[in-house]
Amino acid sequence: MASPEKIIQTLPVENIFVVGLGLIGGSFAKAVKKANPDLHIIGFDRNPDEMEAALRLGVIDEIAQDLPSGAQRAHVIMLSVPVKAMNPVLREMRDFVADQTIITDVGSVKGTVIDSVADAFGYLPRCFVPGHPIAGSEKSGVASADASLFVKHKIIITPPPGVSSKAVNSIRKLWASTGAEVLAMSPAYHDQVLASTSHLPHLLAFSLVDTLAREDQSLDIFRYAAGGFRDFTRIAASDPTMWHDIFLTNTRAVMRSLEHFEQGVQRVKEAILNQNSQEMLGIFTRAKAAREHFNRILDGTPYLKPMTTKNLEYHVKPGGTAQGSIRVPGDKSVSHRSIMLGALAKGITEVEGFLEGEDALSTLQAFRDMGVVIEGPYDGKVKIYGAGLHGLQAPPGPLYMGNSGTSMRLLCGLLAGQDFDVTLTGDESLSKRPMERVAKPLRDMGAVIETGEGGRPPVKIKGGQSLKGIHYDLPMASAQVKSCVLLAGLYAEGQTSTTEPAPTRDHTERMLNGFGYEVKIEGATATLQSGGSLTATKIDVPSDISSAAFFMVAASIAPDADLTIRHVGMNPTRIGVINILKAMGANIELLNEKEVGGEPVADIRVQSAQLKGIHIPEDQVPLAIDEFPVLFIAAACAEGETILTGAEELRVKESDRIQVMADGLIDLGIDAKPTPDGMVIKGGEMGSATVVSHGDHRIAMSFTVAGLRAKGDIVIKGAEHVATSFPNFVELAQQVGMNITAQEV
Ligand code: S3P
Repeated sequence: MASPEKIIQTLPVENIFVVGLGLIGGSFAKAVKKANPDLHIIGFDRNPDEMEAALRLGVIDEIAQDLPSGAQRAHVIMLSVPVKAMNPVLREMRDFVADQTIITDVGSVKGTVIDSVADAFGYLPRCFVPGHPIAGSEKSGVASADASLFVKHKIIITPPPGVSSKAVNSIRKLWASTGAEVLAMSPAYHDQVLASTSHLPHLLAFSLVDTLAREDQSLDIFRYAAGGFRDFTRIAASDPTMWHDIFLTNTRAVMRSLEHFEQGVQRVKEAILNQNSQEMLGIFTRAKAAREHFNRILDGTPYLKPMTTKNLEYHVKPGGTAQGSIRVPGDKSVSHRSIMLGALAKGITEVEGFLEGEDALSTLQAFRDMGVVIEGPYDGKVKIYGAGLHGLQAPPGPLYMGNSGTSMRLLCGLLAGQDFDVTLTGDESLSKRPMERVAKPLRDMGAVIETGEGGRPPVKIKGGQSLKGIHYDLPMASAQVKSCVLLAGLYAEGQTSTTEPAPTRDHTERMLNGFGYEVKIEGATATLQSGGSLTATKIDVPSDISSAAFFMVAASIAPDADLTIRHVGMNPTRIGVINILKAMGANIELLNEKEVGGEPVADIRVQSAQLKGIHIPEDQVPLAIDEFPVLFIAAACAEGETILTGAEELRVKESDRIQVMADGLIDLGIDAKPTPDGMVIKGGEMGSATVVSHGDHRIAMSFTVAGLRAKGDIVIKGAEHVATSFPNFVELAQQVGMNITAQEV
């Protein structure tokens, strides 16, 4: 027989003794054998029929005559018996268990299991590694044993202090070989977590059904019971004896959870009795958001991504046009800021025209995670119950910002001055984007902030720092960096100011003023003083000129086009795209110009025109920074050469927009030459190509527009990212006459 020491180091171990051949024990035996065919599985069960069946079904290789004979030859003993039966089982075999033999179990209350092992041995064996698979089935018995029962399920191991790390590693490997995800936590924490997430819901389900079943009209109640009752009480059909044992063994932790829950019920009760709508909506909205959040975390999907949507491809055919009148979704920059400032204000902020795209929803979810009550969005309407400048709470885990650089960079500033720690994470594209540009000035202000490898996300911010105001000369024209510093300034002692090298979007400054928080603007310098407060207001979000830009270029390059895009934000720091297109000869008219909530808006009418190449003035670059992908398409359709310089920032957007656009244009047959800070494009004829979005919404939409002039089909891969800023892009593109279809792949 091999020594246990050897077995501990390498898998497959040789002899595994499984005690208790029910569903879990049987499934474990089958799963480890399947993954490690050299293992020899010895089995024992008090029920001889189950034992025979296990052998017959090939679940085990050998039956142990009794507990001592199995224990004697085992390198690993797996106890799959009810928690209450563990002590007698262990007493029977303790004298036959070698010191190095690893003992593990699947019991659901770890404190009790550890106590009964210690009681049986008179000490806690160093090779005892308690475990608990979070997996099960309504079926029971060895006949239902399933080798895939643990695949993608969590196994929690709860090593007590002093346990052999080799033993822990072996049990980790053994479980991991079944396809399970192995986690480790302390036994006490495990029991408290399980008390809240499993034991309490079972207790409530059993109690609700029992309470209703006792009532006089119980038959009627069950006859008419609707889906809600069925969903809530499904788990009351679980095994009564097992639950009896669990409640007797995890009593203290379950009682703690129950008391906590009773306080929660009391809060809802009072809110309802006092007709306190805000409190009720707060509780329900937080719960709904938390529920969606769990799904999202379990699913690994971002906030809006419907769980069924996998990868999307756009197919664009030649011959389309751009006609009619449309309204594109709300401005992304303004939508982000409406949530942020609304959350920090006193009172209720009502937002209309909110962009229901994934990026803005990431910001919204982050504030919900920090305890802010937010209703909606319903049809672009959002109601934010402001928590005040000092009312945010520590989130339950890292804040996930999806694809959104604006959320991450602005939140860095806003969170640097809070009194809790927080970590910000993002998707694959965001995880490649530079974050030191915000971390550096924040450190100058006294923030403790760490970026990941290469200055990229995740960003870790340590709370409880006292910030001091600074003057920051921005090294690059970036509204995100400017906004980040100003938002941190709300929490910094004294005065904070920024000077930018070129004008960038000023929504933060405008909106702070709109919330009654004074920001002084003198030339390129914005200054604010801490110590003020924000007062809730109403916000009408104009349509996003960056989204309108796709249709402006579409109507310029398509034959016989005449398109009006309504209610578009005309903030002077955003209209570079109009200036550039006009300079290229576009036929653009502004109608219905007015001011809404501090921002100018207008309807934009665009008709077909023969565009011509230009050298784009560098002062227009920050004013059109998000519109270059689609402006490159305009350049490809223009007569002559278009030259862009001074736009190196494009290389660090959602993708490297210079390289990715140049690659796609070249594939379409255009003479496009990327340069470190721009591109030189000769207008020409476009053919057919398959292009890839590289996680960048604007790349996908730009090549869709190219389809209006291309001679062949264009296929765009990675089009699912369009949902970050323009969820109804395909519908609007079809509505104006573009030949586009979206397909799930
Ligand atoms: C934004 C600022 C710009 C822009 C981004 C949105 C904002 O980024 O590209 O899409 O809302 O402040 P930079 O600040 O990096 O230029």
